[in-house]
Amino acid sequence: MPRSVIERTGAYMTQTQVQPGTASAASTLAAERIAEGERQMAEMIKAEPGEVMIGPSTTMNMYLLSHAIGEWFGEGDELIVTNQDHEANIGAWRRLAERGVTVKEWRVDPETAELEIGALESLLSARTKLVCFPHCSNLLGGFNDVAGITRVVHDAGALVCVDAVAYAPHRAIDVKAWDVDFYGFSLYKLFGPHIAVLYAKRQHFDRARGQNHYFLDDEVPLKLLPGGPNHELTAAIGGVIDYFEALYHHHFEEPENTLAGRIAKVFGLIAAYEDALGARFVRFLESKPNVRLLGRGGDAPGARAPTFSFAVDGRDPAEFPAHMDGHKVAIRSGHFYALRLIAGLGLERPGAVTRASMVHYNSTEEVDRLIAGLDEVI
Ligand SMILES: Cc1ncc(COP(=O)(O)O)c(C=O)c1O
Repeated sequence: MPRSVIERTGAYMTQTQVQPGTASAASTLAAERIAEGERQMAEMIKAEPGEVMIGPSTTMNMYLLSHAIGEWFGEGDELIVTNQDHEANIGAWRRLAERGVTVKEWRVDPETAELEIGALESLLSARTKLVCFPHCSNLLGGFNDVAGITRVVHDAGALVCVDAVAYAPHRAIDVKAWDVDFYGFSLYKLFGPHIAVLYAKRQHFDRARGQNHYFLDDEVPLKLLPGGPNHELTAAIGGVIDYFEALYHHHFEEPENTLAGRIAKVFGLIAAYEDALGARFVRFLESKPNVRLLGRGGDAPGARAPTFSFAVDGRDPAEFPAHMDGHKVAIRSGHFYALRLIAGLGLERPGAVTRASMVHYNSTEEVDRLIAGLDEVI
């Protein structure tokens, strides 16, 4: 956690833990701090103010969204969900079947674990209203072509809802370039506090049903969120921005006018660095004949986040985290709330994989420690 995030949270709680937006100086400052967090997050992902809702978690945000727009869909309408997603972007939408909506499943290729566009095209129809899919699976790590998929879905007259929780720590976000309708990610995966961002095009937030007090129906995005955002943690978003600004000024001398521009440059460095870390690990996994790496292999740059799940012939995945703990490397086994993906890949047990993942502050030495430790047990 960047110190700047902790300090901003502490500053809010010690100096401005009052009802925001009244006449007192502390209250005015509290409101400014919250508004600054929301405004900077919008700027970071190239959204407009009023297009970003800060909620408790992505699971909760998707649940709230499905309730707020559920009435747009009726008997005979179709929604498409994938089996590559974390359950957060599946379960809430599947529940709309209770209202008579038909829910179809865009399934991964069981060999490659990829979501193929051809398979999506065969599911789309004149009745399709919404397609929900991940930018990056939290189990597989490969990036999906959000702009390309969104174009195909829009051409069919439907909307998209993208889960970017596993993408956001690794690459810059540009919701306008991709033309997405709904796009969600969790700030605790983006070096921030335990809250989450839901972007929606302004016209969608305007049209969505209010779920807060009736007199807040014109307040976007507050109307979607019963009870309002967490104040001190929304104010702490500024600390995430401080962190990226510090990275920018450490690595670049030339001025760059926009926050999104500086963020994009920092993520350019992160991408190159993470690609190198990931390549080191994927080469190790691919050298082991008894290891099945799920999803994209190879070390082509730009194809994936350094998030790897694997199964080892005849071995209990629970062995590996326990062994690596002795090397002071934290990895995990389980289903990672992507149970439908595990089943879609033909793995027998829900806890059948081990996952190891990296971000930009991991060192080459740490990856080598991971490799050496796994090599002992694999
Ligand atoms: C891809 C993906 N989507 C959604 C979630 C859920 O996010 P949250 O914990 O904010 O509900 C996770 C959490 O790990 C995730 O990896």
